[in-house]
Amino acid sequence: MKSLRIGDLKIKMPIIQGGMGVAISLSGLASAVANQGGIGVISAAAIGMTEPGFEKNYRNANKTALRKHIRRARELSDGVLGVNLMVALSDYDELLKVSIEENIDVVFMGAGLPLKLPQFVLDQGFENIHTKFIPKVSGAKAAKLIFSYWASKFNHIPDAVVVEGPMAGGHLGFKKEELLEDNISLSTLIRETVEVISVFEKQFNKKVPVIAAGGIYTGKDMFEIMKSGASAVKMGTRFVTTHECDADIKFKESYINSKKEDITLIASPVGLPGRVIGSEFVDKINNGETRPFKCPWKCLKSCNFKEVPYCISQILNNSAQGKLDEGFAFAGSNAWKATEIQSVKQVFDELKEEYNLIEAHFAKKLSLMKRPKVAV
Ligand SMILES: Cc1cc2nc3c(=O)[nH]c(=O)nc-3n(C[C@H](O)[C@H](O)[C@H](O)COP(=O)(O)O)c2cc1C
Repeated sequence: MKSLRIGDLKIKMPIIQGGMGVAISLSGLASAVANQGGIGVISAAAIGMTEPGFEKNYRNANKTALRKHIRRARELSDGVLGVNLMVALSDYDELLKVSIEENIDVVFMGAGLPLKLPQFVLDQGFENIHTKFIPKVSGAKAAKLIFSYWASKFNHIPDAVVVEGPMAGGHLGFKKEELLEDNISLSTLIRETVEVISVFEKQFNKKVPVIAAGGIYTGKDMFEIMKSGASAVKMGTRFVTTHECDADIKFKESYINSKKEDITLIASPVGLPGRVIGSEFVDKINNGETRPFKCPWKCLKSCNFKEVPYCISQILNNSAQGKLDEGFAFAGSNAWKATEIQSVKQVFDELKEEYNLIEAHFAKKLSLMKRPKVAV
């Protein structure tokens, strides 16, 4: 397995753990992944809900908790660490500032296009920063938009890009109809994005890795998507059923107990479809039951608490704490494949073994095809 390079950052294993809010990937999981040579990612989405008294000052709690988890992860690992930020968060700028101040290695940005990021970095007076910036997109079109904008306005491009396909867990950048039609392939999205990005790589004389996410679960999945041009993979679902994942055991068990047909979609108040593990609670929500609430902090820029059926942060926080009768577990299409809780090391060992096996098989097939035919 080839290591990954993002600018001057060397990552031994081309495996990135997807940031999972609310409180699914904190310092525990992130440090364990970083210790195995991948990139461990802390999700900043509603991270303040892990902080006592967060109701009084949610924004401060978010900043305090993020700083705390970055520092804790650094104590537990000297590997490569990232933070996942949703552009749709109302305190996105503040959390971005904390991440850069804490000298995090990588910031991943999803749920929106981070067009203004270079301007923010300039305005804040950050200079010679070590942090790498990586947007997450759902295909070549969005990638081109971000790269063109940064290139023309700031003479700069992102350090890498994550392409997340339709099989991913959590909020999805596709319409419900597209997801139900089931005819978008991640390998096509990767090939198209690699092509678009190559133009910018030439223009800026900079290598920009394209990272694949969504439905990657085994070493074989990794091998196949990397054959399509991905330089690394980003996996969320696979890391949920690990001892080190920061969620309650009931959350992890909901993966292990799920069947393929249980994985379903909800219409999230964020305005995007979300993939979850079906449950009685999901049925209630999908049948129009609501959980009215009052919100003093408005965690999402676009959320109007008087109009949405429930608070997405509260529901996700409930499930992270194992209260699955009042919450749902975000999960990728392959969540049902989990059969046991493993250590992060076991996951890495399995992925490496499977990858190496398929690579050797592929190399053998290739050499047989190349062998000159002997006349008889
Ligand atoms: C439980 C869970 C929570 C997630 N939360 C977030 C999040 O808060 N922000 C985000 O950008 N992506 C989130 N994701 C997406 C992951 O970062 C990652 O891109 C995705 O899981 C990759 O697909 P996979 O689950 O099939 O491996 C979440 C995924 C899961 C499974």
